[in-house]
Amino acid sequence: MRQAGRYLPGYRAIRSQMDFRTLCKTPELAAKVSIQPVDILGVDAAVIFSDILVLLEAMGLAVDFETGDGPRIQKPIRSLNDIKTLHPPDVGKNLCYTGDAIRLTVKALSDRNIPVIGFAGAPFTLACYAIDGKTSRDFNKTKRFMYENPGAFVQLLHRLADGIADHLQTQIEAGAAAVQLFDTWGGILSRETYRAFALPALQRVIQPLKVLRSPIILYLNGSAPHLETMAETGADVLSVDWRLPLSQVRQRVGKKVVLQGNLDPCALYAPPAAIARATRAMLMDHPGKGLIANLGHGMLPDIPVAHVQAFVKAVKAF
Ligand code: CP3
Repeated sequence: MRQAGRYLPGYRAIRSQMDFRTLCKTPELAAKVSIQPVDILGVDAAVIFSDILVLLEAMGLAVDFETGDGPRIQKPIRSLNDIKTLHPPDVGKNLCYTGDAIRLTVKALSDRNIPVIGFAGAPFTLACYAIDGKTSRDFNKTKRFMYENPGAFVQLLHRLADGIADHLQTQIEAGAAAVQLFDTWGGILSRETYRAFALPALQRVIQPLKVLRSPIILYLNGSAPHLETMAETGADVLSVDWRLPLSQVRQRVGKKVVLQGNLDPCALYAPPAAIARATRAMLMDHPGKGLIANLGHGMLPDIPVAHVQAFVKAVKAF
């Protein structure tokens, strides 16, 4: 869950030499940044360094990563005609650097038995960026498009879903041991609209990947209304935010799926002893197998490294 990044001095040192896109597109450096958290934190897997928005770029939407306040789509989608200009990503050509970074990372970690995790944005979350153009509190432009023009919105989701499936397939073929789909903004939809729009698009991504037999993790921030729907997507692992205790999540989704989560990332601002207590409480709430201990969302840039280490240490001790 955003393992690499600005809270690590080693990341900031590399990033001060180049822009974000260059770092993503230079496999040797992307591999180096992906491995940093394994060495520094002792986590059990490496998340490949990339971003969910590189796929939009490969499909024809230019992204500005250097705005100073988060990435921006230069010409967001506003009509059915705009949707028709999106093309398949041609992953072999436009996204080959992700596969190369995965191959290098897998090789570098092979003697330590540490798997590499690939990822992509989920269709609805990528549609949020394609239409609103940047992070927003409520993504009202996207929701307006969905309600005014549901047919076109479905076409957008389908085009994105096919690109996402291609992108994840190449990551698995490059050696990713599992892949995670980030539906970061799914929490802004009602249960009904998530079922009507996001669910079929997720199934369209996940279904064709099943034959590759690599576990698929689905993360949704604000998952409480959508847990039963998430369990219908075909994902093997449901990654949830911190708002519900894991025991309640488990009750609602049944025993077939693995869960991942769910400490509030802000809990890592507490002193290490309190982090250890909160982590133990989280783990005791989900006794037995079927849990990947993690945070409920990404690491924040000003969390002290020692506090992240306290979290990992508490998980391992448990
Ligand atoms: O976990 C990892 O180590 C892999 C790296 C990773 C990044 N982005 C690198 C990144 C992952 C898994 C992502 C996913 C991502 N990107 C999501 C879904 C996950 C989530 O957080 O819910 C989203 C919504 C994005 C889009 C995005 N990219 C945003 C909103 C931002 C700005 C974030 C911020 O806090 O300013 C980015 C840029 C970005 N992607 C950074 C990193 C390390 C910061 C870039 C920098 O300035 O160095």
